[in-house]
Amino acid sequence: MLLNDQRIVIVAGKGGVGKTTVAASLAVTSANKGLRTLIVSTDPAHSLSDILESRCKHSPTRILPGLDAIEIDAEALAARHVNDIARAMKQYAHPDAWPDIDRQLKASVTAPGTIEAALVEHLAELLSEMIETYDRIILDTAPTGHTLRLLSLPDQLGDWTESLLDQREHHRRMADQLGSDESRQHRQVAERLRARRDRLRIAHDILTDRIRACALVVLTPERLPILESQRLIQGLAQTGIQVAGLIVNGLLPSESIDPFLQRRRAQQESRLTEIQKTFADYPQMHLELSAESPAGTKALQRIGLHILDHARDS
Ligand SMILES: Nc1ncnc2c1ncn2[C@@H]1O[C@H](COP(=O)(O)OP(=O)(O)OP(=O)(O)O)[C@@H](O)[C@H]1O
Ligand SMILES: [Mg+2]
Repeated sequence: MLLNDQRIVIVAGKGGVGKTTVAASLAVTSANKGLRTLIVSTDPAHSLSDILESRCKHSPTRILPGLDAIEIDAEALAARHVNDIARAMKQYAHPDAWPDIDRQLKASVTAPGTIEAALVEHLAELLSEMIETYDRIILDTAPTGHTLRLLSLPDQLGDWTESLLDQREHHRRMADQLGSDESRQHRQVAERLRARRDRLRIAHDILTDRIRACALVVLTPERLPILESQRLIQGLAQTGIQVAGLIVNGLLPSESIDPFLQRRRAQQESRLTEIQKTFADYPQMHLELSAESPAGTKALQRIGLHILDHARDS
């Protein structure tokens, strides 16, 4: 079975293999079946709006009855995240040091780590808030490396926050002993850290719960996507995320009389055999390359139905 009733479906894979197309198709079909559906793009280079032919915003945007979409604005999130840090730091620093704080933090807004940390915190918030609002949440992710880092972050950031809390607790005890009024500030910081740790914990628990969440790996029948899918599946397993199956996209028509297409299709056949063997433990399904790039809800519904039909059969 490719897909059960998991509420959260993570669509992952190498760049350009058809992740957004598959994610949007599943979203449209799920909504048309009557499931309250949300599709969230975590890829900073969004293409969800183009494929859905609707303008998706940073907050839930209605696409169809029963279907909402979000394109997370990671840069705006990172800027807000850094502003929050600046505000918290200024509470402890002398006003003379504030320009320095602003300068240093401004430079960190565009750092990849900052954007990812802000993204994962926002995703954690979304998942814990929206898990009861929607019957299905589909995550359209960025290419492999970025997604793996993102998905393993709730766990890593949770551990890191835990150790910060330990240090805070140690300092608070010292401040208490000295009778200092710093202990109130310590308590405020600790509260923020605790709320953050709890959010990250919830996100980690949701994503690694096999009943509630799974990943679908999309690839094309070519050498590099096969290699990258192996790494992706290993990484997902390490993070504790269940892989429900593989969708092999972009198959050429088998009955073509064009010699060029026949040769390409023959190459694809041997890659398909390789995929069958390499990923024998996982259900697999094939999607043909269509003459036109699928966009708009009608075309996506057709692909989604094909995937869900297969999900029932496999
Ligand atoms: N089955 C298909 N038939 C025809 N065109 C397809 C098919 N699947 C995907 N495409 C086209 O291939 C291109 C890449 O697809 P898509 O954007 O879904 O990939 P992606 O994996 O999300 O890419 P990225 O890694 O850049 O986010 C798009 O132009 C899309 O319309
Ligand atoms: Mg995409």
